[in-house]
Amino acid sequence: MRRLLFAANWKMHVAPQQAREYLKLFAMHYRTRPDREVWFFPPAVSLEAVAHAIKDRTDARVGAQNIHWEPKGAFTGELSAPMASHAGARATLIGHSERRHLFGETDEHVGRKLMAALKADLTPVLCVGEKLEERDAGQTVAVVTQQLAAALAGLDGGTLGNVVIAYEPVWAIGTGRNASPQDAAQVHREIRAWLKARNAARTRVLYGGSVNLTNIAELLAEPELDGVLVGAASLDPEGWATLAQTGAA
Ligand code: 13P
Repeated sequence: MRRLLFAANWKMHVAPQQAREYLKLFAMHYRTRPDREVWFFPPAVSLEAVAHAIKDRTDARVGAQNIHWEPKGAFTGELSAPMASHAGARATLIGHSERRHLFGETDEHVGRKLMAALKADLTPVLCVGEKLEERDAGQTVAVVTQQLAAALAGLDGGTLGNVVIAYEPVWAIGTGRNASPQDAAQVHREIRAWLKARNAARTRVLYGGSVNLTNIAELLAEPELDGVLVGAASLDPEGWATLAQTGAA
């Protein structure tokens, strides 16, 4: 059975009390299904509130948006993987394009963070994706496979199976411009081929970038997609519940 994953990246939105209210509303509108999972990536300050609110759900998970690679130390303003885990996180985004392009995260940082996540038993959701000028120059596949190689080098197929990949073209994030389902599927196929060559056939590959209630059905119709990573359209609990039930029988 294809188990779809709907991941909500709240970015710098939703404080703890708002998170509690959000999850009450979400629970009223979302019916648990065996073929779907819903993961939430709140700001660090709201991790515990979300973890508490979903503690009885087997289909939901909370994760951090970012971690540092060291477990502790003099790194003002940072959050370590073990600390996120203590707050209830079971996953973490790694190398989101906003981290890479607004905060200067390099491939080397991304690789170290990925290892730290695995070590702390957090499922890494590795974000990859090309910029508009790279797409226009025909470099999409080269950029994406370079990012995969930099972050995942040396991992065996079994470990790669515990990683989730999110393909998020940078030009489609928060712009209202999403990749066509066919464009997304094409890159997903390349990512899958890369993974398969490393014996990692079961790694899940999500799509992200301006996913919303209008385009979700046609994106999910593409069997290459194992789910979606959603920013803006995940901020309204009722809308997110509807989105995560799209196409469900
Ligand atoms: P939007 O859905 O707001 O475009 O954000 C996508 C994203 O960056 C999810 O991580």
